[in-house]
Amino acid sequence: MVGCSHSKPHYVIGVSQCSADIWREKQNAELRMGAYCQDNVELRFAAAYDSDERQVEQIDSLVATGIDLLIVAPNQVQTISPAIDRAFDKGIPVIVFERKTNSPKFTAFISADNYEMGRVMGEYIASQLDGKGRVMEIMGLKGSSPAIERHNGFTDALKDYPGIEVVATLQGDWTEESAVKATQQWLSQKETANSLPIDFVFAQNDRMAMGSKKAAANSSLFTSHFSLTKYCGIDGLPGEDGGIRLVRDSILDATYIYPTHGDRIIQLAVNILEGKPYEKDTRLMSALVTRDNASVLLMQNEEIMSQSAYLDQLHSRADSYLHELDTQRLVSWMAIGVTILLVITIVLLYLYHLRKVKLQQEHVVSALWNMEIDTMPAVAENAEATDDTSTDETPSAVVESAFLVRFREVVEARLEDSEVSVDDLAAEMNLSRVQLYRKIKQITGSSPVELLRTTRLKRAYQMLLTTDKSVSEVAYAVGFTAPSYFSKCFKEEYGMVPGDIRK
Ligand code: FRU
Repeated sequence: MVGCSHSKPHYVIGVSQCSADIWREKQNAELRMGAYCQDNVELRFAAAYDSDERQVEQIDSLVATGIDLLIVAPNQVQTISPAIDRAFDKGIPVIVFERKTNSPKFTAFISADNYEMGRVMGEYIASQLDGKGRVMEIMGLKGSSPAIERHNGFTDALKDYPGIEVVATLQGDWTEESAVKATQQWLSQKETANSLPIDFVFAQNDRMAMGSKKAAANSSLFTSHFSLTKYCGIDGLPGEDGGIRLVRDSILDATYIYPTHGDRIIQLAVNILEGKPYEKDTRLMSALVTRDNASVLLMQNEEIMSQSAYLDQLHSRADSYLHELDTQRLVSWMAIGVTILLVITIVLLYLYHLRKVKLQQEHVVSALWNMEIDTMPAVAENAEATDDTSTDETPSAVVESAFLVRFREVVEARLEDSEVSVDDLAAEMNLSRVQLYRKIKQITGSSPVELLRTTRLKRAYQMLLTTDKSVSEVAYAVGFTAPSYFSKCFKEEYGMVPGDIRK
C-alpha cells in the first residue's frame, strides 16, 4: 500500500467502472483508501453495469462536473474510446486501467498482463493433462481487451500441444449467469451428447468458471461428461467467495490473480496531477494459484487483512481523537468567549457605577453648594432632624448633606480671607487636613481647595451682577490676591472673562 501524504491542493478524480462486482468492489475500496491517505483527493464513482451507452454517458457527465483527472476501465475496446477522447481533448489527464481502448488519447495505462495469464493457464492445463485431453474455453465480454488477450494467450500456449483439443469456445460476458447460459446452450446441442467428456474448462474469470460448473452439475450429461472435469478461472480474489478459497477447497482447480491495486492507481493519478514523474505503462505483477500455494496465499492474506483491520482501528481512533480535540478546542474557545464577555460586563458595570457615583456627587454638590446661603441652616437642621426618618435619602446621605452644609458655612464665612488654608477650614470643622480632604472628596468628588475656589467664583459672579465694584475689587473681595489670576479662573469656570458679565 502506498504511504499516506499530506500535500494540499484539492483534486477531484472521476472513476468510471465498466462493471459492478466483487472484483470492482475490492478495487473501489482500495481507491477510497488511497484517496483517504492522500488527504486532498475526492473521488466520484460511476458504474456502467457492463453497458457501453451508460459508460459513455457517465464519462461525459463526470467530465461536466469538473473533474481534474479521469480513471477509466473501458467496457469494450472500440465503444468507449470517443468519450475518453473527449475528456482527454479537454485537457483532462486520463488513466486507463485493466481494459484497453483503441485510441492513443490517454495519459497512462496500468494493468496486469492479460495475454500472459491466458498463456500461463494454457501451459498449466496442458501440463496437467500431459499434453493430451479435451478442453473448453469460456470467454469474457466480446470486444473487451482482457477477453481478447486472455484468449490469444491461451490459444498460443496450446499451439505447442497438438494432443489438446479445444472442444468449444463459448461466449460469456464476465458474469456467472452468462457462463450458465452458454454452458446450458452447449449442453443442449445434439453433438454434445455424442462427444467425449471434458477434462478442463478454462473460464476467463472465476465467476464464469463457477457458472459453467453449476450448469454442468445440473445437466443430465453430468455423469457421462463432467464428473471428472476440472475448472480454472482468473481473478483469484482472497475473500469469502474468492477464487483462492475455491482453489484451496478444490472447487476450482486453479485461478490466476488479477490484481486490483486501487492504491497504486491513486498514487499514479496524484503523480500525474502534481507533475511528478510517472510510468506511462505500468504492468502489475500477478501469479498462478493452485492447490500448492492457495493455503499459503490465504494465510498471507489473512495476515494482511488483520493488519489492515488494525490500521482501520487506528484510523478510527485517530479520527475520534481529532474529533474530541476539535470539541475540546470549541469548548475552550467558548469558555474564553464567556470569560471575555464577563470581564467586559464587569468593567462596564464598574464604569457605570463610577459614573453613577460621580453623578450623585455632582448632584449633591449642585444641590447643596449652589443653594442660596439663607436656606442652608434650614437644610442643615433638617438634615440633623431627619437623621433616621428620611424619606428617600439614606441616613448616610443625610449625614453627608449636613456635613457638606456645615462645610459650606465655614467656607462662606472665610471667603474674603485670601490667606485661609485647608488646614484652617479643617480646624474649624474639628478635623485634620487629611480627614477633611478624604471626606469632601468622597462626598463631592472634588477637593476642599476646588470647592473653595468654586465658591469664591460664584460669589464673584453674584457681586459682578449686583454691585458696582470693579473687577479687581470683586477679585480681592472674594479672596483672590491677583486680579489676573482671578480672571483666568473665572474664564475656566464660566467660559467668559469677568468683564463680560457687566456687558
Ligand atoms: C471484473 C471483471 C473480472 C475480470 C475483469 C476483466 O469486473 O469481470 O472478473 O477478470 O473484469 O476485465
